[in-house]
Amino acid sequence: MNQYVTGTVIKELREKNKMTQLQLAEQLGVTDKTISKWETGKGYPDITLLEPLADAFRISITELISGNPIHNANVSANMMRSKFYVCPVCGNVIHSMGEAAISCHGILLSPLAAEPSDEQHMFFVERSDDEYYVRIDHAMTKEHYISFVAAAGVDEIQMIKLYPEGKAEARFKIRGVKKIFFYCNHDGLFSKDIVKGIDDRESGYD
Ligand SMILES: [Fe+2]
Repeated sequence: MNQYVTGTVIKELREKNKMTQLQLAEQLGVTDKTISKWETGKGYPDITLLEPLADAFRISITELISGNPIHNANVSANMMRSKFYVCPVCGNVIHSMGEAAISCHGILLSPLAAEPSDEQHMFFVERSDDEYYVRIDHAMTKEHYISFVAAAGVDEIQMIKLYPEGKAEARFKIRGVKKIFFYCNHDGLFSKDIVKGIDDRESGYD
């Protein structure tokens, strides 16, 4: 995580917003030479200029400092597009409905990219009367374990925390579930769609 806005970020955002150095300078009440200095790393904008700078780029100050502009067209559209962030230091898990600049232990966390489950992370789902029973064929030692399982539908997410020496399994209410996510502390995030007719015999599934 950047500790302060960098010249590279200012230049990128200025170009993305199709502004010249002079245009940005005029908006901030500084000279274009000042902008040039910032962009080439020969100086930093004063802290009082962060807010006008963020305004000029139509982003938040946090995004400006982190160097990570966030693009959420419609966060509330769909829980299936959920993002998960995991802190590598403490294992903290953060669920977000869209992209966010999230930091934990001073680390700017990136949203985890979900992979299809692989041979080392085999995933089984069974349907009982009103539940999905999800089991992952994986060790649960202190060093290497599945730390959470989540079931996402369009408007709901169910998330279950697992612990080392427990079982790599979870139960979810069936209603609306379309996708299962699970996270291995060594190998990352995996996901799998619930397959119509195999895992879910509900006729209402689309
Ligand atoms: Fe693993």
